[in-house]
Amino acid sequence: MKLITFEGIEGVGKSTQINLISEWLKEKGLSTKLLREPGSTDFGEKIRELLLSKESSISTHSELLLMFAARSEMIAEYFIDSRDDFILCDRYYHASIAYQGHGRMLSLDLIDNLIKGINCPIPDLTIVYDLDVKVGFERKANDDIDRIESSGIDFFENVRKGYQQLANDREEVKILDASQPIEILSQQTKDLIEQLF
Ligand code: TMP
Repeated sequence: MKLITFEGIEGVGKSTQINLISEWLKEKGLSTKLLREPGSTDFGEKIRELLLSKESSISTHSELLLMFAARSEMIAEYFIDSRDDFILCDRYYHASIAYQGHGRMLSLDLIDNLIKGINCPIPDLTIVYDLDVKVGFERKANDDIDRIESSGIDFFENVRKGYQQLANDREEVKILDASQPIEILSQQTKDLIEQLF
């Protein structure tokens, strides 16, 4: 099984790219599982509702720990003993580093300890779609904004920088310019994934 994770701030077009890649892999006869974080398991989806609801008033540490609680369920249910050729995951622990680490300013060491502590497998490939924060929000102008999306422009500027830093520092993290047309971005995504075949 190869694990590919997709990251980026709001409005970068991650879901569109994941769906195109899923179809492309299926056409090649490869079995794929689509997952999202937080969520994907019954328990994880309940945690997702709590995390994204604007009625939730929670501390930044609770936010971080709930992300990892949902993650731990997903790893146990889908990663261990996976028989799929590919797992495509819409966000993973790099999101905790970018959002809770760089965005909420929580300790990067704590996050690293949680990643190691719950035995998160390292992805074979993590693709970060990079986009200007304001452009991302303009693309989502008609959508309902959830609790995390309501965190403000400065927060998302820090999240974006966090992702850029991850792409600089880590071999498995590749960054693509999400301001490009969908088809070009999809081709660049495929080119990265083909290196795993
Ligand atoms: P989305 O997947 O629909 O974009 O919603 C998930 C939200 O949760 C998104 O705003 C990013 C945020 N998030 C974190 O803050 N930390 C995490 O570890 C993950 C997986 C997501």
